[in-house]
Amino acid sequence: MTSTVIVTGGAGYIGSHTTLALLQMGIDVVVLDNLSNSTTASLERAAQITGRSPVFVQGDIRDEALLNGLFEKYPIQTVLHFAGLKAVGESVNRPLAYYDNNVTGTLTLCKAMVRAGVFRLAFSSSATVYGNPAIVPIFESVTTGMPTNPYGCSKYMIEQVLQDLANADPRWSIALLRYFNPVGAHESGLIGEDPNGIPNNLLPYIAQVAVGKLPELVVFGNDYPTADGTGVRDYIHVMDLAEGHLRALEALETRTGAHVWNLGTGHGYSVFEVIRAFEAASDRPVPYRIAPRRTGDIATCYADPSKAMRELGWKAKRGLPEMMRDAWRWQQMNPNGYR
Ligand code: NAD
Ligand code: WQD
Repeated sequence: MTSTVIVTGGAGYIGSHTTLALLQMGIDVVVLDNLSNSTTASLERAAQITGRSPVFVQGDIRDEALLNGLFEKYPIQTVLHFAGLKAVGESVNRPLAYYDNNVTGTLTLCKAMVRAGVFRLAFSSSATVYGNPAIVPIFESVTTGMPTNPYGCSKYMIEQVLQDLANADPRWSIALLRYFNPVGAHESGLIGEDPNGIPNNLLPYIAQVAVGKLPELVVFGNDYPTADGTGVRDYIHVMDLAEGHLRALEALETRTGAHVWNLGTGHGYSVFEVIRAFEAASDRPVPYRIAPRRTGDIATCYADPSKAMRELGWKAKRGLPEMMRDAWRWQQMNPNGYR
């Protein structure tokens, strides 16, 4: 196992849970984050849980001089690259910010890696690169490249860049990890998802309704061609996702090239099924009303995760009840997030 890993975006939701998992494995971690969508409280809590602290550097992945300095200062062998902007709706209104942070940021990071002779990289991609899938479950080799918004396009473009790098130079070992719908929180309830303002995503929205911060959930469409008419997604516990990164890092030690792995559970759940599961976990009602479909949403999306099982020996272990239980514990213990 590699000893020093730089985690870009490591103070954020998925980055902080993965940093915690790395620290627990005895790996030294340098977190680089500009704190545009996070605070260092997540890392302080991760240190509280693990008894080990990452080095924290506040800065931007587009700052090449800063990156060069970090690669000179620390014996970094591997980069886990989470940093970026992720709000689909916002990306439609602020495309430049999205392409700059996500695409330019990744190019700058890769240039600094080449300069430093570091060629092992795991990138946070997304099921969004599949667009509206023609078939489910979605396996890695189905056609990509029809995302419907600038956020999704930025992820697709970055995947292309990283594939091209690996094709051009055999020293690269790259994991393109396509996450499905990450939810939940660390079992301690000390770290979790802390969205700014009104949440865009289903789980944090439901949690804030259950805790009384929001009056009701708005269900975006009950006329989809699914069993109960609501959208179906592959929700995955964030700690399963974190563990997927550990397995991917191990796999990269013996592989070169760029490799795509879906990180999902292989199970699709409807919005109504998620509401019922959350009500069971929290013992609270989740009032909702039906509204029209949200622009850009698709009916059904879930992974075929068998490639990750075969090649990484990784499989999601936590089911929907555990995802709901841990999301609720985090929400109850931290009604105002890290604030
Ligand atoms: P997040 O916003 O909680 O974390 C991203 C972190 O990156 C934040 O801490 C932010 O401050 C930091 N950051 C943003 N731009 C930066 C920059 N230019 N320089 C340095 N730091 C910067 O998001 P998350 O949910 O943890 O997502 C992590 C990654 O996973 C993102 O790349 C996201 O696109 C991807 N992803 C997320 C989901 C999801 O549903 N959460 C699904 C698929 C893929
Ligand atoms: C899930 C389901 C909604 C909110 C997004 C990005 C994707 C990835 C993960 C980064 C859908 C329904 C939601 C609400 C609702 N992110 N819903 N009321 O849209 O699958 O994926 O996050 O890569 O790229 O697009 O996740 O949690 O927003 O929605 O009815 O208030 O819940 O219609 O069926 P989505 P989500």
